[in-house]
Amino acid sequence: MKLGIIGIGGHGAGHLRAILNGQGAELVGIADANETLARQAGEQHQVPNFTRWQDLLEQVPMEGLVVCVPHDLYDEIIAAACGKKLHVLKEKPVARNLEEGKRFVHYAESAGVKLMVGTQRRFSPAFQTMRSRQTAVAPLFMFRSHYSFCWEPDFAWRGVKERAGGGAMLDMGYHPIDQMLWQMGAPSEVYAVCSDKARPGTPFPYDTDDTAILTCRYANGSIGYILMSWATSPPEESVYLHGANGVLKSTWNELTHWTPQGELVEEQHWAFDGYDALRTQLETFIQSVQSGSEPPSSAQEQLANMAILDAAYRSAETGAPQKVELP
Ligand SMILES: NC(=O)c1ccc[n+]([C@@H]2O[C@H](COP(=O)([O-])OP(=O)(O)OC[C@H]3O[C@@H](n4cnc5c(N)ncnc54)[C@H](O)[C@@H]3O)[C@@H](O)[C@H]2O)c1
Repeated sequence: MKLGIIGIGGHGAGHLRAILNGQGAELVGIADANETLARQAGEQHQVPNFTRWQDLLEQVPMEGLVVCVPHDLYDEIIAAACGKKLHVLKEKPVARNLEEGKRFVHYAESAGVKLMVGTQRRFSPAFQTMRSRQTAVAPLFMFRSHYSFCWEPDFAWRGVKERAGGGAMLDMGYHPIDQMLWQMGAPSEVYAVCSDKARPGTPFPYDTDDTAILTCRYANGSIGYILMSWATSPPEESVYLHGANGVLKSTWNELTHWTPQGELVEEQHWAFDGYDALRTQLETFIQSVQSGSEPPSSAQEQLANMAILDAAYRSAETGAPQKVELP
């Protein structure tokens, strides 16, 4: 599949590598606003390169596009790509809010193209094994996840709500929320508290949250919580599923299974990293396009994640629990 890429500087570098190595993928062009970056990558991989993404779309014939840019740029890019009948793999989040997400789904559906959202943890064997092993610990009654790391002093576009859509809860929290959805389904009600106190006096633009705790209630009485911070240590990313018959803990490449009393049942390790997940994700996107099937993490499916986030930010603003209205 002939693929162009927009945004190769940050996380897009991994997507570029995935296109170069992914089965069925052929890199045909690059766009990045950073002229040096675009030129160097274009020369290295011998493909046309541009600083304006519009030029990439106008000048290079392709079938699909991988897009990895600041959140406020997706609307125009996805509209234009769908206008050219290109299938799109966009990075998470599906959008800055539910309304924008529905618009993206409309662009893709009207054009008859696939729009997939990057949620690469779904392609980690550890998280996948957790999902397939749930029956061993079921019935589930609690999901919990901690996700923390320390971002650079300048959050850059991520610190500006208008550009990013939200702070830590939306940006990094998108992943554990996706895991919760994928592993346990959508909660019916959420309550969130957000903080912006981890960087007092920062000279950089900053009106988003840096730390958040989200609690969730399910219609069947199950519960869940997620703790997210992009301004602290130690770095940690873990997901737990608690069931009446046992406990599962997953990280990127480890799965641990205990009895409810804490006796170890099994530990599994995989030699697998984030890049492998990006490549597998891309190959899945290509297979979906070629077979005409709906990709996992399609934009339509990901609207549920956005509905949870919209409700969570409403809760943080009002101080009251909010119902999750699934689209
Ligand atoms: N799935 C993950 O684990 C993960 C991790 C990090 C980021 N992301 C997502 O990836 C996306 C990008 O985040 P990032 O951390 O790479 O951001 P970044 O700011 O590090 O990089 C963005 C890139 O886009 C380029 N760019 C900016 N404006 C452009 C324009 N008008 N035209 C073309 N290129 C332009 C920049 O030059 C830069 O190379 C976001 O959606 C973010 O949420 C996902």
